Amino acid sequence: MQVPVSRPQVSPQEVDFVNQALRENAVSGVYGQFIERFEAEFAAFCDVKHAVSCSNGTTALHLALAAAGIKAGDEILVSTLTNMASFFAVLYCGAKPIPVDIDPDTLTMDPEDLRRKLTPQSRGIMVVHLFGHPTDMDSVDEIARANNLIVFEDCAEAHGALYKGRKVGGLSHASGFSFFANKVLTTGEGGMLTTNDPAIAAKARSLKALAFGTHNKFMHEDIGFNYRMTNLQAALGCGQMLRAEALVERRREIARFYTAAFSNLSDHLILPGEKSWAKSVYWMYHVVLKEHLVLHRAAIMADLKAVGVETREGFIPYNLQKIFIDRGWTREEDCPNANKVAYASFYLPTGPDISQVELEYVVENFLSILKRYVR
Ligand SMILES: Cc1ncc(COP(=O)(O)O)c(C=O)c1O
Repeated sequence: MQVPVSRPQVSPQEVDFVNQALRENAVSGVYGQFIERFEAEFAAFCDVKHAVSCSNGTTALHLALAAAGIKAGDEILVSTLTNMASFFAVLYCGAKPIPVDIDPDTLTMDPEDLRRKLTPQSRGIMVVHLFGHPTDMDSVDEIARANNLIVFEDCAEAHGALYKGRKVGGLSHASGFSFFANKVLTTGEGGMLTTNDPAIAAKARSLKALAFGTHNKFMHEDIGFNYRMTNLQAALGCGQMLRAEALVERRREIARFYTAAFSNLSDHLILPGEKSWAKSVYWMYHVVLKEHLVLHRAAIMADLKAVGVETREGFIPYNLQKIFIDRGWTREEDCPNANKVAYASFYLPTGPDISQVELEYVVENFLSILKRYVR
């Protein structure tokens, strides 16, 4: 049996919508009924006033920062354990990212370290709701308000997650979502900026489409980007919106199954948790090996691969990335909590399409492989 780490699930309804877009010759990011509809439905899903579609999660974050006026000389405090896209987006603006350590319980930004990393150049904060678990937003907001900072959410992995009953993507000035094939909701490739600020929405809408002029189209209003989502992708997105809550629930169901199966392994593994104030969407079921097993991570993953179970290493934090250390922008010791997780973790197959038989196969093999390494 081969169990991939993620397999997207495309419903017949989604195929119909994409075919409809094709039949209507609406293939670009400019024409077609699905772009506006997807934006409106996604805004409603996130309980926000504005949603601006774009080409992927990285460009959504870049648009959020650019539309909020982030520029060279600004420092943006970013949760260090993430897909480096969060940091790249800051760098695209010419701003300086400052890595903030994580709370080991949630793998999201530690407000205490955030406070320590503030400087007079601090202009904004980018939290990352990693693996679908929301960040402790009240603590972050308190620091942001006291220091006049703009808050951004990287929601690439967290569609539908709740913080104290409120949807992520609406808890800050502007947020970015990804619709890559392995995400909770997908359009193949794609992204969305969400915000309640009409000025940020309007600026993002302009910047994502080359900042064309309003009176004379080719008298551009700014140095824009072409970050448009196509109507074909939006058609797929509209199909996904029809079952968005079910797709979220499916991830939670998979996580519950794994957590129950691994409940006796607390001496060896740290399983993904869920704070009382949070609803996680468990984008991927991410496990952290306890100290005595860390050296065996590659062997455990290789053994799983040998029986057809694909896994993926956890993220490597900003402060451990050679390209940034070599430039003198960060040091390994900047974020000790993230370092403990970096080479100790991996995630198990979690896509919505995984079958019960496959889930049982993953569990059975993982349990027996782990036994080889624990004495
Ligand atoms: C936390 C995080 N931020 C940003 C991104 C970038 O999204 P995309 O791949 O759609 O550009 C991803 C995923 O790929 C991610 O996991």
